[in-house]
Amino acid sequence: MTKAYNFPELDFRQYSLTELPVVERGGLIWIHPTPGSTIDLDAYLGPIGDDLDHFGINELVRYRKTKVVKHANWKLLIMTYLEGYHVPYLHRNTLSQSFRKGVIAHYEYGPHIRLAAARTNFPDVLKTAIHNWSILAFASVYYTLFPNTFFIMHPDYVSINTFYPEDTDRTIWTHEMLYRASEFQGEKGQEALANRFSYTNDTVFDQEDFAVAEHVQSGLSCRANDFHTLGLNEGLLAMFERSIDDVRSRVEE
Ligand SMILES: [Fe+2]
Repeated sequence: MTKAYNFPELDFRQYSLTELPVVERGGLIWIHPTPGSTIDLDAYLGPIGDDLDHFGINELVRYRKTKVVKHANWKLLIMTYLEGYHVPYLHRNTLSQSFRKGVIAHYEYGPHIRLAAARTNFPDVLKTAIHNWSILAFASVYYTLFPNTFFIMHPDYVSINTFYPEDTDRTIWTHEMLYRASEFQGEKGQEALANRFSYTNDTVFDQEDFAVAEHVQSGLSCRANDFHTLGLNEGLLAMFERSIDDVRSRVEE
């Protein structure tokens, strides 16, 4: 190994990058931001880890990853995925065509949340032999991995969104789409994939969900309200907020 000319006496081993704990599971790389700590994914994810394994993310390949700044608090952005109340209204001409209004089941493990939203073809499940049931044929499945990551499972692709707070009203949003290569072959397949990405990323996320989150953020900055009232369809927003408060109080202890 040749040492740099300007630093002839330097022991390069003293200047390594900081080593962080890392593990690979289910096609994903998991990193702990604290040097010297350990990653216990079984304890962290519980049964949700088994779900992620089940969906076979390790069989998918990357299509695109985008990175954009949104002018809203990171919690507002992630909360757009935690209730279906807004879907028939905000997504009137897009997602609402594909889903049955208000038919959503949720499951919690610690601070993580799974949502399954029934698609319009949901009653057809009764015409299908139980051993042939595949949930993604009849529902979209969503995971909020606490604190700042959100997965959307589709039969032939997965969207992974992560939100990194930069300030109280500024967030870096990354969106990575992974897809099943066998389902999008050739020029036509790649065209279909580009359309899918544009629909999900640009139309639904950016122009609908996050545009409203940015409006909400600018409304909040007026500080006109001391509290906000949640309806029965919005309980997971309260749960998410409570999970954040729990962590905050543990950190402050
Ligand atoms: Fe939405």
